[in-house]
Amino acid sequence: MITPSIDSDYIAAFDPKTYLAECYDGPDEEHIFNIQFLVEAVQSLPTDLMVLEVGGGPTLHSAAVVAPHAYEIHFCDYVPANLAEVRRWLDGQPDAFDWRPFIQVALLKANLPATPAAVAQRAAEMRRKLTQLLPCDVLRGAPLGDCAGQYDLVLAPHCTDVAAATPAQWQQVMHNITSLVKPGGWLFIAVTTGATHNTVGAQVFPCVDLSAEAIYQGYLTAGYDPNTFQLARIPAAAKYEFTGIAYAIAQKQPQPPTRTTLHSTNAITSTRSTYSITTLNSTNSTNSTNSINSINSTHSNRKTR
Ligand SMILES: C[S@@+](CC[C@H](N)C(=O)[O-])C[C@H]1O[C@@H](n2cnc3c(N)ncnc32)[C@H](O)[C@@H]1O
Repeated sequence: MITPSIDSDYIAAFDPKTYLAECYDGPDEEHIFNIQFLVEAVQSLPTDLMVLEVGGGPTLHSAAVVAPHAYEIHFCDYVPANLAEVRRWLDGQPDAFDWRPFIQVALLKANLPATPAAVAQRAAEMRRKLTQLLPCDVLRGAPLGDCAGQYDLVLAPHCTDVAAATPAQWQQVMHNITSLVKPGGWLFIAVTTGATHNTVGAQVFPCVDLSAEAIYQGYLTAGYDPNTFQLARIPAAAKYEFTGIAYAIAQKQPQPPTRTTLHSTNAITSTRSTYSITTLNSTNSTNSTNSINSINSTHSNRKTR
């Protein structure tokens, strides 16, 4: 059993319905970009992965992408109401969130037909493979408790930067989540950039503002292979409280590194050739592409997160 380590007010403050209404009122450019990044990141991975989504909140767009690659998907979050919201969808409750438009994008970005039948088929696959809803706390060394296993693919979109209060704590969160990644497994994260808080409804939640370099160094310090690191950024419209979103993925070293691999503070310039980093600054995110490096987008209607 997970004993909460953060303010229990957080649990009361985070309302899944408000979050979904404000941040998922139809696939916007960020969702489309997020889905495309993930589609391309997992397209070469096997189809029998043990997948864990960490801090998934009440959302299932990532599960929609990875379901064809998953043997099973386990899903965890700190807030019980989020897990209950996901359960409502799994059970087909009438008041459950409608993930079909997001599933449709997942299919389109994978160059698959996105007919109503195909969407229903993907939804059925998600329901079949999403086998466990679990409490978790990424501020703990063992986020799922002591008996947890390790996973081939761990997804932590918009969780690490929200759970941590400082860059040092974010690094600890990365270590904690990495304990759930098999050697040779993959960790995907998404973080907002350019803000130290996010607003959902009337609630203001603090978050850590991370540079691309900090994310890269965080992955390396947590034991990931720099040669597999990919990062893409999408800008947010000026009216929003954050200026962008960064998406990153890398493969955990097969063996724990024998020494900490750190670059100088200007390594983002000097080591750029070691990983792909994309900053997006032109239009047309809805076109399907085969390369993360070729995705271009701007935001026209960003929500707070
Ligand atoms: C901004 S929401 C992101 C939800 C979803 N992953 C998404 O991409 O929309 C942040 C999520 O992180 C979860 N979270 C915050 N602190 C956490 C912690 N210490 N351990 C696990 N999850 C946490 C929250 O419950 C919430 O679901």
